[in-house]
Amino acid sequence: MPSEEDSISFEKSNMTIDSNEIETDNDSESDPNRVKDFVVTPWEVEGDIDYSKLIEKFGTRAIDDTLIEKIKNFTGEIHPFLKNKYFFSHRDLDVVLDEYKRGNKFYLYTGRGPSGLVHLGHLMPWLFTKYLQEKFNVNLIFQLTDDEKFLFNSNLDMEAIQKYTYENILDIISIGFDPKRTKIIVDTKHIKYLYPLSIEIAKKITYSTAKAVFGFSNSSNIGMIGFPPVQGAPCFLPSIIENKPTPVLIPAAIDQDPYWRVTRDIAEKLGYPKPAQIHSKFIPGLTSLGKMSSSRPETALFTVDEPEILETKIKNTFTGGQPTIALQRKLGGNANICPVYWYLNYLFDTEKESQERYNDCTGGNLLCGECKGDMIKKVKPFIKDIQIKRDKAQNLIKDFMIDGKDFFEDDNAGSN
Ligand code: TRP
Repeated sequence: MPSEEDSISFEKSNMTIDSNEIETDNDSESDPNRVKDFVVTPWEVEGDIDYSKLIEKFGTRAIDDTLIEKIKNFTGEIHPFLKNKYFFSHRDLDVVLDEYKRGNKFYLYTGRGPSGLVHLGHLMPWLFTKYLQEKFNVNLIFQLTDDEKFLFNSNLDMEAIQKYTYENILDIISIGFDPKRTKIIVDTKHIKYLYPLSIEIAKKITYSTAKAVFGFSNSSNIGMIGFPPVQGAPCFLPSIIENKPTPVLIPAAIDQDPYWRVTRDIAEKLGYPKPAQIHSKFIPGLTSLGKMSSSRPETALFTVDEPEILETKIKNTFTGGQPTIALQRKLGGNANICPVYWYLNYLFDTEKESQERYNDCTGGNLLCGECKGDMIKKVKPFIKDIQIKRDKAQNLIKDFMIDGKDFFEDDNAGSN
């Protein structure tokens, strides 16, 4: 465990905590990550994703109206990401809420694999995480898995990953998380906080389970095989920090579920509550289906993009429109597969505006150029605001890092 001087201090919560363990069903099951017509694994998301099939295959639960009402009891409203089903699936969210009501506060845990620049798609789960932090007044652990990205990407070296890690931290801070209630962990810098837990986890997972869940094979490098416990460790870190079993809620895109599945399986054996999840969908890319990808820059709107670049990318985007204006007027567009429609729906339109846009588009009364124009108008100031906050974030890094140090502090120590 970290020594006394490294002890991790969040501002103390004033709620009483009872140390009841969370009862949950056992959800270890087979893992056919590959469903016909689409693929979802932590490293690959491709195809036209059928989210209800994913719920079935992964063995998660849909977020239904009853659960949404239950959340509303705490938040006083229904967040648009719940209303529009961007967050659509969960494990044990109801259990975590019940515990919270009893005074047993959960921790939030989320993360980012720093393999590139941050784009609009990444911000969505983070915005929701910030909302949960505010509404429930809870602590957050934010992990950056630079080790994962190094091990899993043959074309990325540590130098590039470190650059992305730094840039990504600026984005994370720009979201506006509460520095007193947020700790950022960069795996290669802060492994001492995770290592004792990750070996506990590793010892309980066999190679045969890892192969079945993650699809490892004889040609996987052994670092990949050893990595999952490092992403599992923050699920249990809150129990160490609080010195009592402490529930954790993980907001994440559903492709991360395999990690939580194995972690949940072994949690109780190690004496920790099973981590709960709230799963989001993927945001579509600008040219194709699947998730927006940093490795295909033309498909992503980055937080560091200049306004003209944003405008060009949006103008060139794939839409659900017909090939000609005449056909569009006659047949209407296909909003369901249109990234412009979904971006506006998820981030900018009100419920009513989005409904009208849908009807006008599918009814042939709206042309793609008009929607793109709307999107350009919304995205530019949104990104501009983030860029201002990113600039300020450079001086705030220390306040967020789990060791209280600046990003480059250790690298510079002793060298002159
Ligand atoms: N593996 C994730 C990625 O590649 C990063 C990550 C680590 C994460 N811990 C997490 C994501 C917790 C969501 C929740 O992006």
